[in-house]
Amino acid sequence: MNEALPSRKRGDKSAAAFTASIPFDRRLYGQDIAGSIAHAKMLSRQGIIAEKEAELIIMGLISIREEIEKGEFSFRTELEDIHMNIEARLFDKIGEVAGKLHTARSRNDQVALDLRLYAKEAISQTIEALVGFQRALLDLAEANKDVVMPGYTHLQRAQPVLLAHHLLAYFEMAQRDVERFGHCLEHADIMPLGSGALAGVAYPVDRSFLAQELGFARISANSLDAVSDRDFVIEFQAASAVTMMHLSRLAEETVLWSSAEFGLVELDQAYTTGSSIMPQKRNPDVAELVRGKTGRVYGSLMGILTTMKALPLAYNRDMQEDKEGFFDTVDTLLPSLEAMAGMVRTLKVNAERARQAAGGDYVLATDIADYLVKKGTPFREAHRVVGKLVGYALEQGKTFQQLSLSEYRSFCPLFEDDVYAITVDSSLRARDEPGGTAPQQVEMALKRAREIVEAKGG
Ligand code: ARG
Repeated sequence: MNEALPSRKRGDKSAAAFTASIPFDRRLYGQDIAGSIAHAKMLSRQGIIAEKEAELIIMGLISIREEIEKGEFSFRTELEDIHMNIEARLFDKIGEVAGKLHTARSRNDQVALDLRLYAKEAISQTIEALVGFQRALLDLAEANKDVVMPGYTHLQRAQPVLLAHHLLAYFEMAQRDVERFGHCLEHADIMPLGSGALAGVAYPVDRSFLAQELGFARISANSLDAVSDRDFVIEFQAASAVTMMHLSRLAEETVLWSSAEFGLVELDQAYTTGSSIMPQKRNPDVAELVRGKTGRVYGSLMGILTTMKALPLAYNRDMQEDKEGFFDTVDTLLPSLEAMAGMVRTLKVNAERARQAAGGDYVLATDIADYLVKKGTPFREAHRVVGKLVGYALEQGKTFQQLSLSEYRSFCPLFEDDVYAITVDSSLRARDEPGGTAPQQVEMALKRAREIVEAKGG
């Protein structure tokens, strides 16, 4: 017999361990106690339990919170979950009256409440971390306003752009992330207590008082939905997946840019790790881990979607599986945002190398085509001519600046002396429509971005 497998004889115990959620839902103790205190208050206000009883219950709950926070509470697996652990301890402390707390309540609406309180806090922290990340991007962009670099498509040098413009692209992504988490908050900000196990409760509860007491914007409209809705968890994880995807793209670019091949940036030592065998190496581990951790966040999203997909209304125990992936997502997302913000904040830009790269590889080809267009050539024709010109220049091993006017003219008679005025800077300046990389446009974009973060208390 395989000793590593649980024995059948211990079936009872292993089933209890199998169904228990206490190893992970203990982190909801604060939410659970806050919910119970509000519930006890409401029950006494409504005359469902006596004031004295509510006082005893509330005092008991407060002292349990202290025990937990001092690390003096012993969590018991056989009591399954955080709700039962706290309730059992309340019995130890205040006796039979503890049993009155669960009047007009079920663990089903209780766990929904706890998770919503937790989600609301996680969302606020996420938004704060996102704004911190935006601020880091903005600081780096402002400190390197004049830095030009090649913009890429297909990872081939395409057209020159300002580094600030590139960084502001990530600012925009983060801004949409902030908005996405904001929507997520609206759906989490709904108070489910009073739904009971599924059908509502047969006591004159005051749900609005509970909502107010616990800081919720509104109460749930349908008891069946309230106890079985985990959309707010899914939305949080979906929004987190998108944010991680954004961070991962920046992480990937950081890995590339900090390589000797690109040499565009240098990472602060705090964000690199040496190799145990190659003394010269400074590996971009933080960026790589952010890129890598994106996988587990996607995985948790798939997990919860799959858990929920075929559940009949209302509560099913499957839903206990909503927590670990959710917590892990929070535990991955917040540190990733912080790490990326720190990495960006301390990034050193190699401005010279970036400018050099921006001028190389015929990145001004589009500008030369635009030049011919301004002289009346249809764009498609100009594109064809410049394509040939680039082929010829490559063969000759010459840059655009090194081609003679007669060489230019052999491709198109419209070329004149002013073709030599096409430079990286003229290329940037030309892209002067809203959203473009012209220094003037980027200046305005930086201002707008600064206003956005300042409005959030920056
Ligand atoms: N531990 C449970 C969960 O996380 C709490 C709700 C239990 N409800 C029940 N009817 N067994 O979902």
